[in-house]
Amino acid sequence: MTKIEAKNRVAKLREEIDFHRYNYHVLDRETISPAALDSLKNELFRLENEYPDLVTPDSPTQRVAGRPLSKFQKSVHSQPMISLFDAFSEEDMRAWEERNDNYLKGRGEGRSRAGYKEYYCELKLDGLAINLRYENGLLIQGATRGDGKVGENVTDNIRTINSIPLRLRLPSDKELSALNLNATESRTLSALISGGTIEVRGEAIMTKAVFSALNKKYGRAGQAVLANTRNGVAGSIRQLDSRITAERQLEFYAYDLLLADYERGELVRTRASSDRLANLLGFRTLKQNRICRSLEEVFDFYKTIEQGREKLPFEIDGTVVKVNDLKMWPILGVVGKAPRYMMAYKFSAEQATTRVKDVVWQVGRTGALTPTALLEPVKVGGATISRSTLHNFDEIGRLDLRLGDTVIIERSGDVIPKVLQVLKNLRNGSEKRIAPPKRCPMCGGPVIREPGEVAYRCANKRCYAVNLRQIIHFVSKGAADLEGLGPKLIEQFLTAGLIRDAADLYALKKEDLLSLERFAEKKADNVLAMIASRKTLDLGRFIYGLGIRHVGEETAALLASRLSSPLASGELRIKDLIKYFQSLSVSELEDLEDVGPIVAESIAEFWRDKHNLELLEKFNARGIRLVSSDSGAKNQARLKLSGEIFVLTGTLSSLTRSEAKDRIKMLGGKVKETVTRETAYVVAGLEPGSKYGEAKRLGIKILDEKEFLNLLS
Ligand code: IVH
Repeated sequence: MTKIEAKNRVAKLREEIDFHRYNYHVLDRETISPAALDSLKNELFRLENEYPDLVTPDSPTQRVAGRPLSKFQKSVHSQPMISLFDAFSEEDMRAWEERNDNYLKGRGEGRSRAGYKEYYCELKLDGLAINLRYENGLLIQGATRGDGKVGENVTDNIRTINSIPLRLRLPSDKELSALNLNATESRTLSALISGGTIEVRGEAIMTKAVFSALNKKYGRAGQAVLANTRNGVAGSIRQLDSRITAERQLEFYAYDLLLADYERGELVRTRASSDRLANLLGFRTLKQNRICRSLEEVFDFYKTIEQGREKLPFEIDGTVVKVNDLKMWPILGVVGKAPRYMMAYKFSAEQATTRVKDVVWQVGRTGALTPTALLEPVKVGGATISRSTLHNFDEIGRLDLRLGDTVIIERSGDVIPKVLQVLKNLRNGSEKRIAPPKRCPMCGGPVIREPGEVAYRCANKRCYAVNLRQIIHFVSKGAADLEGLGPKLIEQFLTAGLIRDAADLYALKKEDLLSLERFAEKKADNVLAMIASRKTLDLGRFIYGLGIRHVGEETAALLASRLSSPLASGELRIKDLIKYFQSLSVSELEDLEDVGPIVAESIAEFWRDKHNLELLEKFNARGIRLVSSDSGAKNQARLKLSGEIFVLTGTLSSLTRSEAKDRIKMLGGKVKETVTRETAYVVAGLEPGSKYGEAKRLGIKILDEKEFLNLLS
């Protein structure tokens, strides 16, 4: 990127970041996910690092978020409430320690201060930062962070939080002695608690349980539901009616103590002791917090916390790693907007922003061309992502995606990442429109789009890529299940000319395999033995493996169960199968449950196609035997929810909406959008919508996620 390009990009990024931050911090309105916003900030930060003279005092990297809302009185913080630098990897954390090393060495403090490599590791709560001021032991003020210097006075609301003591608890001498204080220090501290000023900083949070209970309640009453726990807290504290705050049942965890007139490290020497003291003063502190004596221990802590994250009663977005020795804090000091002595070591975000470099078309087994975005590599949810599916050409239109665009991508679990949104404000005019494919990228064959179809397709029946995909499909788990024959191996067979179609797999010979690179004798024997052992196929799996358009596993099993009885049970000959299918008219096929006109037409066409008949004949000649023994019974068991109508509302935590739909359909159920008297069940996840109220009104059975999963199992 040239300097001019960087300058323009920086300006666009600032505008975009400011827009979303204003919405979020001032108006409590979330217009972009925090992860995507972080991603934009990271890009800005990187550019400013590369071109330091582009840094301006008003850049979002230079200030702490938010502005006080005008409806509350302002409150000037005794010490600024700064923010934290973020790390996302062990590498980032090592770089942080190294920077501190160098910094201290530069100040001649390196050797004498070896203790700074001991860390106190805490959970990073995802709520709202609050400063509490106690004078003579009494809570006199609670304030939000605001812009870091001036916050909002929200004392009335804060007072409704039960885990905030209105008067500090006075610890006993014995308790104080556990903090390694001598007798004089203990007395001084006691005097300060009851007669001085102490500020306690921490996070106000809403537990997951309260969040879902409230949302259930709001949903039932037809009121707006809370977007997430953090918004729940912000909306509760920054509002004028403290009765509403009380209803929200917030909690508070302390993470810092400021003792007026005492330097950091005086009286209370370590962050671990300060955490203990906060607890003794009557605050909740996090029992997971730990001292770690090296970065390796920090990494273990981080991993343990990340693994247990789901089970915690509240949301966290990472850990905060703090130099344990408080005397080091003023020595290490603050740089820019955040201190050197602590680091937010965050969980990898599941959304990120990046740029689309190109769009390529991938050929599927039905010849459908699926657009895939090639991205500038970016870390999302712990993995580096460089491509993302765009589903079809209509999706490109819906997103209004152009080459060069900045996009938000999302990855959840192991699901293929997808493009969620285009950030059009970041365009600079050089973006290019994306045209539909004119020729198949693999075989150069013509591309067609049939009326009423979304997909563009390669029309070449002999397209290499289509053939490859079809063989891969035939081999897959739900079909012939030829274990160990992965896509790479099949491609190797195909390019070496060992096979032309799936039937050829059953005629492979040992010398064929040995002729391939990296194919030792043992491997060849294993592959051949596996293929030989799987020549008898279940009818439903075989039909599914044929890759008939619109015939998925479910329809294939259904066809098998309907066809097996007229064809007699036990073993079936492929010839009889062909005869049987050819004898059925489209309308007879349509009479089968769940087979509509398009599917019926596609099935009928398959059994008329010369190329397909040749393939079937080849399967026959290679000794493939079909059995239908259990398909009927399997189908019976599968159709446990036959005809039952389901309506889904809210978010399920263990399934996506489409997974839930698939599971219902697999068991014979149907999924509809609206609740009527015909609805059998309404499945209510988190934040259910108006369908929940409607189900209640009509007396329809409502299942929570656990009940729903039980029903499916
Ligand atoms: S220490 C210099 N400790 O994270 C700021 N912060 O991203 C000192 N947070 O504004 C904060 N858990 O609201 C600290 N254990 C923890 C925390 C924590 C959550 C929040 C805090 C801060 C934000 C910075």
